[in-house]
Amino acid sequence: MTTPAAELVGVSQRFGGFTAVDAIDLQIPRGRLTTLLGPSGCGKTTTLRLLAGYSAPTSGRILIDGDDATRTPPEKRNLGMVFQSYALFPHLTVADNVAYGPKMRGVPAAERRRRADEALDLVGLAHLGDRKPKQLSGGQQQRVALARAIAIRPRLLLLDEPLSNLDARLRVQMRAEIRRIQSETGLTVVLVTHDQDEALELSDEMVLMRAGKIVQSGAPRDVFPAPADRFVAEFLGYENFLTLADGRQAAVRPEHLRIVSADAPAGEAVAFDAVVRDVAYRGVDLLVTLEATDPGGHAVRLLADHRADTATGPTPSAGDRVRLLAPEARLALLEPDPTPTEGIS
Ligand SMILES: Nc1ncnc2c1ncn2[C@@H]1O[C@H](COP(=O)(O)OP(=O)(O)O)[C@@H](O)[C@H]1O
Ligand SMILES: [Mg+2]
Repeated sequence: MTTPAAELVGVSQRFGGFTAVDAIDLQIPRGRLTTLLGPSGCGKTTTLRLLAGYSAPTSGRILIDGDDATRTPPEKRNLGMVFQSYALFPHLTVADNVAYGPKMRGVPAAERRRRADEALDLVGLAHLGDRKPKQLSGGQQQRVALARAIAIRPRLLLLDEPLSNLDARLRVQMRAEIRRIQSETGLTVVLVTHDQDEALELSDEMVLMRAGKIVQSGAPRDVFPAPADRFVAEFLGYENFLTLADGRQAAVRPEHLRIVSADAPAGEAVAFDAVVRDVAYRGVDLLVTLEATDPGGHAVRLLADHRADTATGPTPSAGDRVRLLAPEARLALLEPDPTPTEGIS
């Protein structure tokens, strides 16, 4: 196996008595895009800052390209970093902002001009090099910040919630841009986000964090259908949690619960009776809230998407007694949770 671009080995970061990062082992594969995903406060930024060298871990080791960099200062790591607040220099032109990193590294004027042009071209802003940052939109400023980080030819590009200040539509466009830039440059990227859609769409490898620990990691295609526990399942949008007849816990997504008439056959699916409590119109589907007794005998509140174009049963309305079908293949079996979970229940 090739040496990872970076590696955290048993890394912890304590602030006073509080452990923000708790004995993490993490390998950042070279030339891929890795996301750190988790709710606010779980230690994502702290982990990124440790990689960048802005703080030294309380314990553990950080390797970059296989070499111990635990005590290497940030300016010697040659990493590009982009924050949520893009922090461009307001008095410099866009091109000079982008050329700033190479300049600080002693790159001659002609070469840094060339690199700035190349980086601006990559983010689609070659025509705006002479402007000042305040003459650009938020999305354009974010691209400049990205170009500035790329222009130093970093060994690792570290992005901390780079899209969270953009409006929803632009955020989605920029995801595709980041993917394109990553694949065109072959850069190793670590991107922090609390947005599961962003992580799913961008990641080669996604790393889910909770309370300073890594709870699950892998390719989106492997993680998404098989969340390890309830925390991960909730975070990935599995709204429904059931106890099966044999006592195991399972999660199922609203789009995979089918509402059929009360006397319909169950077929291959886990079936149970429910009462419709609420129906909300959402354009492409109806979001249906139901009360049911799950196969384990517990009262549960469930959400089901009902799409007129694919549904087989009648259109549900409040008060209806119906049958719910959860196809076996769509049930994600969960490890028992060691601690009570926050969030939706
Ligand atoms: N310099 C610091 N001093 C004390 N506590 C900190 C410091 N930096 C972060 N923390 C705490 O560590 C935890 C993780 O923070 P952070 O890594 O910023 O989370 P995230 O980026 O996942 O939202 C939070 O509870 C935060 O308050
Ligand atoms: Mg953060």
